[in-house]
Amino acid sequence: MSFDRSLKIAPSILASDFANFGAEIEAVEAQGADWIHVDVMDGHFVPNITFGPSTCAAIRPHIKTVMDVHLMIAPVDPYIQAFADAGADFITAHVEAGPHIHRTLQAIRAAGAKAGVALNPGTPASAVAPLLDMVDLVCVMTVNPGFGGQKFIHEGVAKTRELREMIGDREIHIEIDGGVDPDTAPLVAGAGADVLVAGSAVFRGGSVSDPAPYGANMTAIRKACS
Ligand code: DX5
Ligand code: ZN
Repeated sequence: MSFDRSLKIAPSILASDFANFGAEIEAVEAQGADWIHVDVMDGHFVPNITFGPSTCAAIRPHIKTVMDVHLMIAPVDPYIQAFADAGADFITAHVEAGPHIHRTLQAIRAAGAKAGVALNPGTPASAVAPLLDMVDLVCVMTVNPGFGGQKFIHEGVAKTRELREMIGDREIHIEIDGGVDPDTAPLVAGAGADVLVAGSAVFRGGSVSDPAPYGANMTAIRKACS
C-alpha cells in the first residue's frame, strides 16, 4: 500500500446490520467505500460492547479495500496479535487506554500491522508528539467513543489543524471519527484530515437489498469537501 493523502471515506460497520456484516461490507465497497472501519468495544474502556478478533477474522475475506480496526479496549496489548492474525491492516489504540502507549504501538508494528493512535476529545494533540515516528495514523475522535450517531464536537477541527502542522511531511494519515456528515466533513478535510470515518451518515436510508443510498451518502460527503 503506497501512502496516499487524498480524501478517503471509511464507513463504520457499527451503523450497519450486525447480522449481515459480510454483505454490508460488500455493498458499501461496491458503492465506493475506500476503507472499512471496524469498531471494537469492550464495555470497560467505553460503555458499550461490540465484538472481538473472531468477528474480525470472519469479516476479513469480505473486505477488498483496507481493514481499519479501532480498538476501544483496555488493556490493549494482550489482544494485538489476535487482531493482527485476524487480518487488520491498521490497528488503532487509544492513548488513554493505558500507561504504555509507546510499547503498544511498537507491538502493533511488530505484529505486522500499521499502527494508529487515537485521541479522545479531552486529550490534546501534543499527546502524540513523542509518538510521531512510530505511527501510521492519528485518529481524532470528534465524539466521545462508544456509540454511533452522536453530535460532532467542533474542538476537533483545531486539533486536526494542529496535528497536520506537527506531522509535516511524515507519511501519517489523519483520521476523523464521530459525527462526520456533509456539514462537518469539509471542516476537518479543510483542516488536513484525509480519512473520514462515517457510520450513520453513510448507512442511513439504505440496506443490502437497496444499497444505492450508501453511494449517494458518500457522494454527498465527497462533494461537500470538494
Ligand atoms: C464511535 C466509533 C465511531 C462511530 C462513528 O465510538 O468509534 O467509529 O461508528 O459513528 P457516527 O459516524 O455515526 O458518528
Ligand atoms: Zn471508530
